[in-house]
Formats: sequence, C-alpha cells, structure tokens
Amino acid sequence: MTQSQKCAAVVVGAGPAGLAVMGNLLEKQLGGKIAWVDPLFQGGRVNRKYREVPSNTKVALFQAYATAVQPFRTVINNTRIPSPFSTMAKLDQDKTCHLHHAADVVRALTDGVVKMDQVLACRGVITAANLAEKTSTWTVRIKLRDSADEVEVLTPRLVLCTGSHPTVVPIHVPGHNIERLDLDVVLKPSELMSLLPKGTPLTVGVVGASHSAILALLNLVDLARTSHPELRIKWFTRHPLRYAEYMDGWILRDNTGLKGHAADFARQQLEDGKLAESEAGRFITKVDCGGGQEQAQYERHLPSCSYLVQAVGFTRDPLPELSVNGLLLEPEFDSASGGFRDGNGRAVRGLYGAGIAFPERVVDPYGNVEHAVGFFKFMKYLKRVSPQWAA
Ligand SMILES: Cc1cc2nc3c(=O)[nH]c(=O)nc-3n(C[C@H](O)[C@H](O)[C@H](O)COP(=O)(O)OP(=O)(O)OC[C@H]3O[C@@H](n4cnc5c(N)ncnc54)[C@H](O)[C@@H]3O)c2cc1C
Ligand SMILES: NC(=O)c1ccc[n+]([C@@H]2O[C@H](COP(=O)([O-])OP(=O)(O)OC[C@H]3O[C@@H](n4cnc5c(N)ncnc54)[C@H](OP(=O)(O)O)[C@@H]3O)[C@@H](O)[C@H]2O)c1
Repeated sequence: MTQSQKCAAVVVGAGPAGLAVMGNLLEKQLGGKIAWVDPLFQGGRVNRKYREVPSNTKVALFQAYATAVQPFRTVINNTRIPSPFSTMAKLDQDKTCHLHHAADVVRALTDGVVKMDQVLACRGVITAANLAEKTSTWTVRIKLRDSADEVEVLTPRLVLCTGSHPTVVPIHVPGHNIERLDLDVVLKPSELMSLLPKGTPLTVGVVGASHSAILALLNLVDLARTSHPELRIKWFTRHPLRYAEYMDGWILRDNTGLKGHAADFARQQLEDGKLAESEAGRFITKVDCGGGQEQAQYERHLPSCSYLVQAVGFTRDPLPELSVNGLLLEPEFDSASGGFRDGNGRAVRGLYGAGIAFPERVVDPYGNVEHAVGFFKFMKYLKRVSPQWAA
C-alpha cells in the first residue's frame, strides 16, 4: 500500500549531521512538516559503534553544537536535570571526553526533536527518490521498519545525511588467508577483549596511521599489557605520524592530524625515537610500507598474522536509488553549496547533503585541502549553506 504526504523537506539519517540539518531547517520555519527518516533515531554511528572511543574534539565543541540553534535550546530547556546536557556542561570544557557523552547528547536532542509538531519522524529507510523536474518535486519512497508498508512523501527538498563505514581495501598475500578484524570492534575495547582468543600466541596486523589506526594500536596494546599477554601487533604504515598543530588563529591538519588521547599516545610511545624503549614497543613491530613497498611488506609479514584490521579511512554508505524524471542519477556532491550536480554538471534541484558522507571541502592558509568532519564542523557548514536550501 502506498500513501502520499506532502512535506517541506525530507531529511535522511539521524546521526549528528541529520540532527544538525533538522535543527537548522526547523529554525527557518519552512511552513510545513519536515519528514525525518532513520531506522533507529539513536544518534547514528557514534552511538551504535563508538561510545568507548575518546573524542578528538574538546567538550566545548560538543556544547557549541548542542546549543547552536533555537530548536535544540528549546529541547534542552524542557529537559529535566540531571540529563546528558547537564552532565556534558559539568565536564571540563577544554578537555576531550569519551564519545558516550556526545552520543547521549545527540540522542536526547533527537528524542526532543522527534516530538515537535513540525516533525514527521519515520522509522525506516529511504529506498528511492525521483525528481519530477517539471514540478520541482521529489517523490521519496520510505520502507517502514515495523510494517510491510511503504509510504511516499512529496517534497521540494531532500537532504542526504546517510553516513559512512570503515573502508576495506583488497589486501592479498598468495597462499595465505587472513581473518579480517572489523575496525568497529577494535575501537570498542569491551567487545575486542572477548573476541580475541586468550592464552595462545596471536599476532594482529594493523594497517594505517591516522586516528582510527592509532586508537586500534592503543586498544590492542592495552589488551597485551593486561588480559592477553601473548598478543603481538604488526603495524603497517606508509607515512610518518601527522599531528594537528595549533597556529595563530587556525589549526594546521585540523581534519587529518592526530589530536587528543591518540596524539599523546603516538607522541609518547610510537614515534621512531620512542617505540624501541616504550611500553607499546614491547608489543608492536612497525613495518614501514612507504615508498611503494606495501605489497612486498604484506607478503613478508602477513603470514605471521592471525588477524588484520584495516584503518584506512571511511567510505559513504550506499545511497537510495536516485533518479530525475525517471532516469537514474549518479549525483556528484558540490561542497560549495551543499548541493549536487548531475553527470552533465547541472545542479540537481532540491537535493542536498551533509555529514561524514558529504562534508565541506576546506582549504587552509597553506593551501592544503581537507574535508571538515566533526559535530561542530557540520553545524558551522550548515549555518552557512542551509539558508539557500530554505529559500
Ligand atoms: C571513530 C570515529 C570517531 C569520531 N570522533 C569524533 C569526535 O571526537 N568529535 C567529532 O566532532 N566528530 C567525530 N567523528 C566524526 C563524525 O562526527 C562522526 O563520523 C559522525 O558519526 C558522522 O555523523 P553523520 O550523521 O554524518 O553519520 P552517521 O552517524 O553514520 O549517521 C548516518 C545515519 O543515517 C542512517 N541512514 C543511512 N542510510 C539511510 C537510508 N537510506 N534511510 C534512512 N536512514 C539512513 C544511518 O542508519 C545512520 O543512523 C568521529 C568519527 C569516527 C568514525
Ligand atoms: N575520536 C577520535 O579520536 C577518532 C577516531 C577515529 C576516527 N575519527 C574521525 O573519523 C574520521 C576518519 O578518520 P580515520 O582515522 O578513520 O581515517 P582518515 O583520517 O580518513 O585517514 C585514513 C588514513 O588511512 C591511510 N590509508 C588509506 N589507504 C591506505 C592503504 N591502502 N594502506 C595504508 N594506509 C592507507 C591514509 O594514508 P594516506 O594519507 O597515505 O592516504 C590515512 O592516513 C576523521 O574525521 C577522524 O577525525 C576520530
């Protein structure tokens, strides 16, 4: 059965980015309901997978995110204390925190936003959307989670905040089958501890050298020091450790450099001058893969590994099937506007994106190009681009 309903916007995804889009669009009072679609409405991937991860941003930035728009402030003011907001407010604003604090704030804001009159919350997934150019209307199909029904929503604006998952690249060594260890599990010490066998010699390979990789090394070293004394780690890295640097009024490598707990651990224990003497160095063997020697190094070292975890970045989650006038669309994100272009470079009407899947492209004063990924970065970006979406 298909029912149709008209909405001022449809927002796909209820992670930190989808929530920030909701806050911005609600503040602009579009004059109609906003449909918000997610299978869970529980804070997205940070809550589902990364509650035990230490943040690489300061508490103050989570606070700035949570209070940036009026609808969020209304939720906070209507929430009884103690709440995730009051807990966050009591933390040292200048320090980092575990992501469960940030996830709980996102969940509490989500709980408040879904109850607002202007919001039509749909528990489910968007499976397809077609733009009829003649009327500038998107027909969005939603598969509801708890029923066999599909609903259809008609809207002039569709915003994709669909998130990303850990990238897996093909790494093969002839004659050797290595078991893949999920990065998300390695970033969750409580699960990692019970998954890895105890009381037997075991080597885990870790590929990468950015935030995820350093936290993977840290979590594995913690196990080797405690419950898994026979665990050893081979660290496959193709570039030197890179850190965020605080310059005069801006941050060099703000999005790619190590910060917080990961940076402290890397500086103190993993640098070439430190590894041989450090506690981490008792368990980690560094395998230099720079200068194009990756495959040769894998062939030399992977046969001695039982597991391999890849920490080599994140890849967009699959998008719903998108079409324009019934013809399939391969949309290309245009970070300047938060919109999309079609294969001929033409702007696609009413289609927008945000979050880790569709981040802002930023250029620093030295000309380095990065993608701005983080709660408050999403919020800052949306404050700039969303007024045009609402126009
Ligand atoms: C390990 C890790 C640590 C991080 N730490 C920090 C940090 O300390 N500070 C910081 O500011 N940022 C941090 N980030 C960056 C960023 O804030 C997170 O990646 C954040 O989860 C991105 O939010 P999102 O809303 O874009 O995506 P997600 O959180 O992945 O949310 C996407 C949502 O969309 C839903 N969805 C997908 N497809 C559909 C569909 N077709 N229909 C309906 N719903 C759909 C998904 O179910 C999900 O709920 C971290 C990222 C990672 C990976
Ligand atoms: N709270 C936290 O501490 C935390 C933890 C994890 C992630 N995050 C956030 O999540 C986002 C993703 O971070 P991320 O660390 O997962 O990834 P990332 O910042 O996208 O970095 C990917 C890394 O993988 C390397 N790489 C890519 N392909 C490779 C290959 N084939 N072999 C070896 N190395 C390869 C890249 O090296 P090259 O430069 O050589 O390509 C780069 O160092 C970021 O926004 C980050 O801030 C935060």
